[in-house]
Amino acid sequence: MKRTIFLAAVLLCNAAAAQTVISTKNTSLVIDAQEGQIPQILYYGTRLSSGDAAALRSAGFGASAAYPVHNDASTSLEALSVRMPDGNLSTDQRVKSVSTESWAGGKLVRVDCADANYPLAVSIFYKSYEAEDVISTWTEIRNGEKKKSVVLTRFDSGCLPIRQGDVWVTSFGGSWAGEVTVNCQPLKTGVRSVFNKDGVRNTQTSHAEVMISLDGKPQELSGRVIGAALCYSGNYELRFETGDTRYSSIHRFFAGIDPSNSNYTLARGETFTTPELAYSFSAEGMSGVSRNFHKWGRKYKLAHGGQVNDILLNSWEGVYFDINEAGMHQMMRDIADMGGELFVMDDGWFGDKYPRKNDETSLGDWVVDRNKLPNGVEDLVAEAAKDGIKFGIWIEPEMTNSRSELFEKHPDWVINAPGRNLVEGRGGTQLVLDLSNPAVQDFVFGVFDGIMTQWPGISYIKWDANMDIPSQGSQYLKNQEHLYIEYHRGLARVLDRIRSKYPDVAVQACASGGGRVNWGILPWFDEFWTSDNTDALQRVFIQWNTSYFFPAEAMAAHIGASPNHTTGREIPLKFRIDVAMSARLGLELQPSAMSAEEKALCKSAIADYKKVREIVQLGDLYRIVSPYDGKGLCTKIYTTGSKDRAVFFWYRTEYFHGEPVAASLFAGLDPERGYRVTELNRVGAALPFEGKVFSGRFLMEQGLDIPSGNNAPGPHRDFGSHVLYLTAE
Ligand code: DGJ
Repeated sequence: MKRTIFLAAVLLCNAAAAQTVISTKNTSLVIDAQEGQIPQILYYGTRLSSGDAAALRSAGFGASAAYPVHNDASTSLEALSVRMPDGNLSTDQRVKSVSTESWAGGKLVRVDCADANYPLAVSIFYKSYEAEDVISTWTEIRNGEKKKSVVLTRFDSGCLPIRQGDVWVTSFGGSWAGEVTVNCQPLKTGVRSVFNKDGVRNTQTSHAEVMISLDGKPQELSGRVIGAALCYSGNYELRFETGDTRYSSIHRFFAGIDPSNSNYTLARGETFTTPELAYSFSAEGMSGVSRNFHKWGRKYKLAHGGQVNDILLNSWEGVYFDINEAGMHQMMRDIADMGGELFVMDDGWFGDKYPRKNDETSLGDWVVDRNKLPNGVEDLVAEAAKDGIKFGIWIEPEMTNSRSELFEKHPDWVINAPGRNLVEGRGGTQLVLDLSNPAVQDFVFGVFDGIMTQWPGISYIKWDANMDIPSQGSQYLKNQEHLYIEYHRGLARVLDRIRSKYPDVAVQACASGGGRVNWGILPWFDEFWTSDNTDALQRVFIQWNTSYFFPAEAMAAHIGASPNHTTGREIPLKFRIDVAMSARLGLELQPSAMSAEEKALCKSAIADYKKVREIVQLGDLYRIVSPYDGKGLCTKIYTTGSKDRAVFFWYRTEYFHGEPVAASLFAGLDPERGYRVTELNRVGAALPFEGKVFSGRFLMEQGLDIPSGNNAPGPHRDFGSHVLYLTAE
């Protein structure tokens, strides 16, 4: 896991600071923390000069509590509410001191507050990531009682006031195989909440990120936007509160762990640290905020962020549970022949007493099924090496089935409310292991460790998790209210142990597809499985929406079969490839079912992708034409930081005969440079501008006319697509 290195730097302590300005390259956050007063936030937005910062109040900026507690905020929402040992439900947190220290990427400001009547103290942290234009916040809540506990009934990570106006919020919903749908609405009076209570897969429904557009309906390339991402792997709630304008001139945004059925009893002397809540502001529209989060995530959060990920074939949609040695050998040969770099054997390879033939048995029994793989996994690892590719394997270590040897041995290891019948999930038998229990933590670590030590050549693990916590109850914990939180603490402990022993192995976060796409879990993972839906048309939307907060480097996008297994839709291979090429390219099909021409097309696309994957996976993204705009089109471009190379993606999602298609405008280029345009993964005749040079200004202001029909063989006129490679002269 990435760690932040703090410089033993100058510690500035200003006991009675008035305004503290925390700045990044292009943004500032101004807090007003005066000794004895309630800590307040005055401003968050474009970087301020010291003169403008000093004049904020005269410009009409009103300060608002930085961390509203139940007491000063009792008629509106609060970030913190508690029950003191004597039953008192209020706290009164006043500033004691403010300190600032430097760390390698920026500053860390700490506002220490205390309650004059009770030994409960809150410290609020603001950390700037200067180059990436991100400022994050979290709190520490300390119970200084000598003997008694304090119960936290709400314990958000932070609160941000936003000036009222034409403010729109984009939040993200979704479900299995329909991940990351967009909900974009203006903020109106009242409360809007975005939450997840799955217990395990915290992006199976909503996501813990929002875009807040300050200049009306959100635009991709212009307008002031704040992005917020709660970095937490468990249950959360994000809330917006908009009061009556007669009494309030602000919206307030709150984010934190969801406290429902999860009050936290803070023992005497204990400190609770809330998860990091990251903000980024950009005046370059939602794409500007996305670029900031991508840079920040790659540098500080994602495991091996900044290194390109391998092109792989995953066995799941090719064979499902029908794993066998000859079949695995054939798939490995096929992906190696096409130029791929990694083969991943998915579900179905394990189980002894209960062989894993379907999803009803065996989770927890991580031994090779010798009927399917008589020579074991070691044979597959060796075969992959012979083919010149790497080998990866699927596990679901947090889970078991009631039909497994593990459950027979340790029925007390599963989560289920005391005295209730078992609530079983996938396959009618799946159960979640209780990660609050240290014995279970050891077991889950042992699953990973066992695989890595038995088969040393393994270089990639797909870590799946396919169930929620439906019956909240631990057979280990005394306080059932702590289960949701302790589960994720246990998971973090296991993942820390894994990463300290296996820092180099690539690990994919999969949770019924995109059920774990959050900056709280990704520090231990290299990438995530974006969705079990590999239909390229729906992927245009899913990948567009996922890209709001997550970089292409982490977004696994695989070429699936046609008709697609989830939607039944038939889509030409060219379009399926071009959609997968806009993120981390892979394949999720049976190569033996492909024709020689199809394999050749994949092979040349893989070769082309290798030329540009650094730009796609590590570049700056500009989303240009949204697939939601009703134009039957979607376009986006990735550029290098120095703007010397770029890759432009053009997808015709719907074809309407006779309807004109506007010229495609580019973005993110250097207006003064000339760019040669060449088509990648080309099928059919060359485009009229193939090999020609255009200035960045021309491409961004006049654009190129791209013929609107389908350029690939097949029954449809929909699904035309082009990938254009731009190189500066
Ligand atoms: C759910 C995942 O999303 C799929 O990719 C696959 O790994 C299956 N689980 C296997 O059971």
